[in-house]
Parts: sequence; C-alpha cells; structure tokens
Amino acid sequence: MPLVIGVPAESAAGEKRVATVPDVVGKLIQLGFSVAVQSGAGAGANCDDEAYRAAGAEIVDGASALWAKADVVLKVRPPTVDEIALMREGATLVAFIWPAQNPDLMQRLAAKRATVLAMDSVPRISRAQKLDALSSMANIAGYRAVIEAAHAFGRFFTGQITAAGKVPPARVFVIGAGVAGLAAIGTASSLGAVVRANDTRPEVADQVVSMGGDFVPVDYVEEGAGVGGYAKVMSEGFQKAQRDVFAREAKDADIVITTALIPGRPAPQLITVDMVRSMKPGSVIVDLAAEQGGNCELTVPGESVVRNGVTIIGYTDLASRLAKQSSTLYANNLLRLTEELCKAKDGRLNVDMNDEVIRGTTVIKDGAITWPPPPPKLTAAPTAKPVPMQPAAKPAAAPAAARAHGHGGGAPASAGKSAAMFAAAAVVFTFIGANAPPAFLPHLTVFVLACFVGYMVVWNVTPALHTPLMSVTNAISSIIVIGALVQIAPPAPYIPFDVRRPGWILTPLAVTSIALVTINMFGGFAVTRRMLAMFRK
Ligand code: NAI
Repeated sequence: MPLVIGVPAESAAGEKRVATVPDVVGKLIQLGFSVAVQSGAGAGANCDDEAYRAAGAEIVDGASALWAKADVVLKVRPPTVDEIALMREGATLVAFIWPAQNPDLMQRLAAKRATVLAMDSVPRISRAQKLDALSSMANIAGYRAVIEAAHAFGRFFTGQITAAGKVPPARVFVIGAGVAGLAAIGTASSLGAVVRANDTRPEVADQVVSMGGDFVPVDYVEEGAGVGGYAKVMSEGFQKAQRDVFAREAKDADIVITTALIPGRPAPQLITVDMVRSMKPGSVIVDLAAEQGGNCELTVPGESVVRNGVTIIGYTDLASRLAKQSSTLYANNLLRLTEELCKAKDGRLNVDMNDEVIRGTTVIKDGAITWPPPPPKLTAAPTAKPVPMQPAAKPAAAPAAARAHGHGGGAPASAGKSAAMFAAAAVVFTFIGANAPPAFLPHLTVFVLACFVGYMVVWNVTPALHTPLMSVTNAISSIIVIGALVQIAPPAPYIPFDVRRPGWILTPLAVTSIALVTINMFGGFAVTRRMLAMFRK
C-alpha cells in the first residue's frame, strides 16, 4: 500500500501558507504516494479544494480525519500540542520545527515514535540548495520588506522630474546582505531607489553591487566570516566603528531594512534609539530580525509602531503575507525532499541516515531524538587562523586582499618557513633542470604553473562564491580538451583500431575525452548561468 501524504490546514492565527499546492500534488502522486488535503487548507494561498481535487488529491473534512489518515504529514509551522495528539503513532512529519527553541515539542513528538524532518535544519550545502526552505522564505521576506516599506513611506522610490516639481529617489540602507538582504536590495533598486548596504562579511560586496546596490564598508580590519562561512560576533572595536557608519547612513536614509543575523544567536542590536531620533520624520525601518529580538532597539515584534515620526515595522510573518508565492516555493522544497526520501518512486520513504542531507534534516527518527546532527564533514570555509585585530588607520594594516581572507601577514616565523621552503624548492628544481631530459622541462614548467594557479584560485576564494567558482573552474579547467585536440590527428592514412599503426588507440581516446570534457564545460557554464539567473529578473 502506498503511503498517504496528508496536508493539514495551518492552525496558527494569521498563517496563510500551505505545505503543498495543486501543481505539486501531481508530482507527489507520480512518486507513488496518495495525497490527502484538509478542506480549505489552501484558501489563504488562493488554492481551492477543487484545484487540489483536479490534481488528484483527496479532500478530507476536518483536522482529526486528516491527521488520522496521514502516514506522512507535510506542514509549515511546528505542530501544536492538540495536533500532536491527533497524529498517528509512528507517522512521519515534515515541517519547520526549530528544535533548539522547542525542546517540549521534540519530547512530545518523540513520545509519538514519530520520524520528524525539520525544514529549518536542512544543512546549508550546495547539494541541499533545492530543499533550502529557509532561503526560499528569506528571499520572499526580503522582497516583502521593501513592499511594506513602500506602503508606509509617503513618497516614490524612483526619482522623477515632473511639471509639479523634482522628486529625489528614496535612499534605502540595507543591513545584512544574506538571502533576505540581497532580495531587499534587488527589489528596492528595481523600484528605482538608491540602495546602500553593509555586511560584516566583506566578500558579499560584489553580490551587493550585482543586485544594484553600493557596498558601504566599515573602516576596521576584521574577518567577518565565522565557521561555515556564516557571520560571527564581531569585536567591540569593530562594533563601534560599525555603529559610527550606521549612525551616518541612518541619518541620510529614508528607509532602513535590517536583516543581520548570526545563526543560533539573538539578533545583534545595530540601530540605536539615537539613530532612530536622527532619522527624518516619515522614514521607515523594517526589522526582519524582529523574531530573534530585532536589530533595532525600538522594534516591537509582530507590530508596526511609530517612534519620533519613524515607522518601525517588526512583522514576523512577511513570507505568509505573500502566501501564494511562499506556499509554491515551500511546496517545491518539500517535493525535492520527498524525492530524496523516495528514490525508488514506490510511494515509500527511506530515511537514510548515511545521507548527509537527510541526516542533518532528520531531528527525530522512529521516536529517538537525533538532533543535533554531527557537524558537517565539509564546511563552506576553511577554519581561519586567529588574526590579530587592529584598526585600519594603523600604518601596518594588511593589504585589502589579505584582509578579506583573514591572512594577518608579517608573522616572522611563517616568513622564515616560507623562505626555507623556497630555498629547498630552488635546489630541487636546479637539480631537475640540470639532469632531466630537455623534452621533460616544458611539461614540468606547465605542471608547476598549473599547481600554483589552481592553489591561488581555490584557496583564495571566499566560501560564499564556492559553488559558482567551482562550476566556472570546472568549465575552464577542461584544458584536457587542448591535449585531446593535439592528439586527435593521427598519422595519415588513419584506419580506426588498426593496431599496426602508431597511435591507433589515441584517436578514439581523444574523441572520448573531448566528448566528456564538452559535457563538463557546458555543464559548468549551465550551472553558473542558472545560479546567476536566480538573482536576475
Ligand atoms: P542570512 O544568514 O542569509 O543573512 C544574515 C546576514 O546578516 C549575513 O550575511 C550576515 O553576515 C549578516 N550579519 C550578521 N551580523 C551582522 C552585523 N552585525 N552587521 C551587519 N551584517 C551582519 O539570513 P537570511 O536568511 O537572509 O535571514 C535574515 C533575517 O530575516 C533573519 O533574522 C531571519 O530570521 C529573518 N526572516 C524574517 C522573516 C520575517 O517574516 N520577518 C521571514 C524570513 C526570514
């Protein structure tokens, strides 16, 4: 018997999202499952019962009947105590769970011998991007933050010259250029605003520019990326320098959108009461981090308040305010997860704890709490060595490139070690140069240069750019094709597989390598294009 996937209506007040949409129902059925949807579950997201039915779902009246029927429950918000009571023993649940914040919920689900996959715990690695519901929701929240700001702001975003007078463009300042911040930058600049943005990770500067904003640096030398390439808590000195920049920017800005967050920590308070006081009446602050305490000292989570003439929006349901869009993206994230869990397309789930993505996402397996997972084998960034911190104004400041990658530079011990290594390498190469056959030397030169360039390319790139970089280098590194082209021309006349002729095997091998390399090259460029397209209109 195929398993029944059940989609209940969300019970949280004001939650309009739904965990699947009619377009996705058909794809779940193709995986071999039956799908049951609670009547009215999609109403807030403009998906009516009829559309679900047409897609092949069974419509079930009432939450009790739905939960009783479902072997696998797909949900958006964590289940309530009442919902857990309705859940079948040993059922599987996929939803946002927030295990660190909800230990009671975890215990209750474990007592039900449930298997629970938490969409907030999907590891942020390249392979799991298609399941990354946090990013999907943050992208929507960033967009909606601008729309909310525009709604509360009394002017145009774009500058205009009209017969009735000249209108300057709105100035938008975005703090935190993660997923939500970049979406906000793109949306505000497409509406015609002048957008500036800051992040503690300087490597996002290029992404800010590519979304149409200007990056505002903080004049203080400190590496902003912590473990896994995410932000870390900055030193007191940095925070002070950053506050000075924010005070200046807030005073000039019409709209401030804050998205700063360090995973697993309360939001850093970055916009002070004094900064709010310095803003022009009619200005707007949208604080996306409201749920984690807020980036602005005056934010009231879940509400929009006016202080000193400045509207401060602390809504915590920005994704739900675009329910159709967020439900569609969330449903696709869940579909991708279901595909990972049901590779055989037989309507059954295989929660494979040896798969890094599934292991990270699974917080309870058959009633046993498996959260937190072991740390991922691969982090997005190499662990940086501790760097002595110093204000940028000091003359001994490291060059910008070294700064960005956490190389403090100038340590006498490591300089001595490098000199010794260079001396040893010089001796080895002199020996090889004097003794190796002349035909070998050009190959060695190319090999050494390739190692050097490869090292510089891979080690010096910031973690955030790893996926696009890898796909581009994949394409470019297809230098094999040149070797294959050189080898492909056989001594004439060529008779394929004529073992008596020299190079009889070379041509077929060269043809094969050109075919493989072509896939590699075009695949690499295709992946890069797709990644860039995610950020374009
Ligand atoms: P993210 O982790 O991708 O981005 C956060 C960014 O803030 C990172 O780039 C980080 O480097 C930066 N940052 C951290 N500390 C900073 C500091 N002191 N100064 C400047 N930048 C700093 O997170 P994502 O996914 O973009 O989410 C952003 C926020 O939006 C989170 O607080 C998230 O909970 C919230 N969110 C809110 C929603 C709502 O309805 N209000 C819905 C979805 C997300």
